[in-house]
Amino acid sequence: MQDNGARNLALVTGASSGIGAELARELVRHGHDVVLTARRAPELEALAAELRAAGAVATVVPKDLGVPGAARELALELDARGLQVDVLINNAGFGDVGAFVREDPDRIDAMLQLNVVALTALTRALLPGMVARGHGRVMLVSSTAGFLPGPNMAAYCASKAYVLSLGEALARELRGTGVTLTTLCPGATHSGFATASGAESLPLFTSSLVPKMSSASVARAGYDAMTRGTPVLVTGIMNKLVAYSGRVLPRAIVFPVARLLLGDHR
Ligand SMILES: NC(=O)c1ccc[n+]([C@@H]2O[C@H](COP(=O)([O-])OP(=O)(O)OC[C@H]3O[C@@H](n4cnc5c(N)ncnc54)[C@H](OP(=O)(O)O)[C@@H]3O)[C@@H](O)[C@H]2O)c1
Repeated sequence: MQDNGARNLALVTGASSGIGAELARELVRHGHDVVLTARRAPELEALAAELRAAGAVATVVPKDLGVPGAARELALELDARGLQVDVLINNAGFGDVGAFVREDPDRIDAMLQLNVVALTALTRALLPGMVARGHGRVMLVSSTAGFLPGPNMAAYCASKAYVLSLGEALARELRGTGVTLTTLCPGATHSGFATASGAESLPLFTSSLVPKMSSASVARAGYDAMTRGTPVLVTGIMNKLVAYSGRVLPRAIVFPVARLLLGDHR
């Protein structure tokens, strides 16, 4: 809640499924109103109806954030409608599996536009207002993939490394402003991600040895971390182990482990 008792407004990107939809539910459970965005309007409208029934004001703004300029356009649209964002959840994203030289270049462009460019543009557009008002929360959704290079998902992992690097740096820059930024790093999670990313057959998603979290539990942990102002949260013990060992172990160990999880790129 704001100091004047008004309900906070949260903008959630990628709210039509998975972690984003669960984050929206979590935010509403904690008294926020929400703006939901993604491409699929019917899914957003269904979620908005559910959240309105739970007492929130839920606004749907369908938008393809893979289109250059769309993130800034979204920020301007919200401003024009008088919707002041207190909480920004930058969650929309997808992956792409395959040897880099055989990946579709248009798909790589679209992925980087969404995972990197739109996320950066939306954060840049909305942060100054939060800083001026002296309060706000931002979440960037990265991944355990942000901690280590991933042959067979190279550009996706690199996009998430960008998000993690941006998030860690901005969390520092924002100290003392009243605004906090949390980078959420899930590992394998049940959602639409594996299908959207062509990753269903990767050991990361098929192996019973790899623990998979639910989108709801990732959202709960992410929301709590954001509320506490935690700069980086890797969800789950095994994911923490994989992510942080990726930072310290020699590449001679990291790459064979990555290959076990992400398959063979040859
Ligand atoms: N699930 C995992 O294993 C996992 C692990 C680590 C990190 N993550 C990250 O978690 C985030 C959420 O993914 P998820 O697991 O919840 O997968 P998901 O169920 O596929 O959700 C992805 C969301 O992004 C939206 N989106 C995709 N392309 C878009 C575009 N061009 N413009 C606007 N919105 C777009 C999708 O909505 P529309 O299709 O309606 O546009 C959807 O709401 C992603 O950033 C992903 O990289 C996921």
